[in-house]
Amino acid sequence: AYVIAQPCADVKDKSCVDECPVDCIYEGGRALYIHPEECVDCGACEPVCPVEAIYFEDDVPAGWGDHRGSNAAFFDTIGSPGGAAALGAQPHDSALVASLPQAVA
Ligand code: F3S
Ligand code: F3S
Repeated sequence: AYVIAQPCADVKDKSCVDECPVDCIYEGGRALYIHPEECVDCGACEPVCPVEAIYFEDDVPAGWGDHRGSNAAFFDTIGSPGGAAALGAQPHDSALVASLPQAVA
């Protein structure tokens, strides 16, 4: 599966959402998350992210490796909804994203 890493936090551009053919990119409070089982590895989302937050799971930069588990953990409480649009934005974040310092304007 593809993974959304740290640069998405507090940016949430959402260009990726429009590209996904299976609607598996879900919105949380501070970032978006790719469902590790619903993603079909099409790769369409990766080039459109303006902050280069999206990587194939084997290509996540070392410093952001924990985001593989972070994307999966986002779904611990909601399972496999089968579509992000119908579910809508969720208020929660993974523990990792929730722990990131807030950007100072
Ligand atoms: Fe985030 Fe980039 Fe998508 S900032 S919402 S991963 S386009
Ligand atoms: Fe969708 Fe990106 Fe996976 S477009 S299917 S989340 S590789």
